[in-house]
Amino acid sequence: MSTAIERFDDAARRRVGALGRTRVHDGELLRHPVYTRLLHWSAAIFFILALLSGFALYTPWLFHAVTPLFGSGAMTRELHPWFSLGFVLVFVLQILNWLTPMRWTPADRRWMRHFRAYISNTEKLEPEDVGFFNAGQKLYFWAIVGSTIVFLISGVPMWLPEIFGRHAVMVGYVLHDVAALVMLGGFIVHLYESTAQQPGTFQAMTRGTVSRPWAWTHHPNWYREVTQRDPRADYEQARERQKEHDRNGAA
Ligand code: HEM
Repeated sequence: MSTAIERFDDAARRRVGALGRTRVHDGELLRHPVYTRLLHWSAAIFFILALLSGFALYTPWLFHAVTPLFGSGAMTRELHPWFSLGFVLVFVLQILNWLTPMRWTPADRRWMRHFRAYISNTEKLEPEDVGFFNAGQKLYFWAIVGSTIVFLISGVPMWLPEIFGRHAVMVGYVLHDVAALVMLGGFIVHLYESTAQQPGTFQAMTRGTVSRPWAWTHHPNWYREVTQRDPRADYEQARERQKEHDRNGAA
């Protein structure tokens, strides 16, 4: 990919990286640098604020419970488009940051065929060709990109009805609701996947690092690239060591 984006991204990564620190302990790998983490959590905060204020405007029972958080109903209505624009702005930077690892590859098509085993956790290791992100993560990312575009196209007429007119606003409401459902569903799955379902994942976005066993289990091809080692051989070795350890403990 050429130039302008790379130059912009690299400079931003360096500048923001200098503001924070990522300590990679023995047995760990760097997964997300400071810049990525800052974008991710800024996007998450704007997203949750936009979601809360949006739902407050949408349902009367939430209106009474949630709008006081933002001052009043009128203030919630005023703030909602700004939270959303904040999310869009930060997420556009994240798109530039992740454009390369989020590209769809033949390995992702194969992963989709293995989807059932993945969600039911029947396989110990991900397929050997799973790189930095798996196809499920990429789908989530591209669903956010698509929904964000729909949110923008539908939200602007709802924000400025005097310019766009009644028909655009009516269509806007329907599209906005569909995009909100996709985003909410994706967010719930994402929350589960990145915390309870895969222990060790959350620290990738807090400390920026993951353990080697996490990497060879969930992203074997990425593990191979960054360590130049065979993920399956390292997994087998670790298993042998664990068995040995258990035998010695039992003796
Ligand atoms: C607030 C709770 C959230 C938690 C605990 C969380 C956690 C995480 C973690 C741990 C990762 C790293 C996964 C990896 O390295 O493999 C990640 C990645 C990501 N997050 Fe979040 N996140 C949250 C909110 C959000 C929100 C609100 C969005 C956007 C709407 C978002 C979008 C993403 C995307 C696109 C990725 C990369 C793809 C993926 O891992 O699914 N996250 N998140």
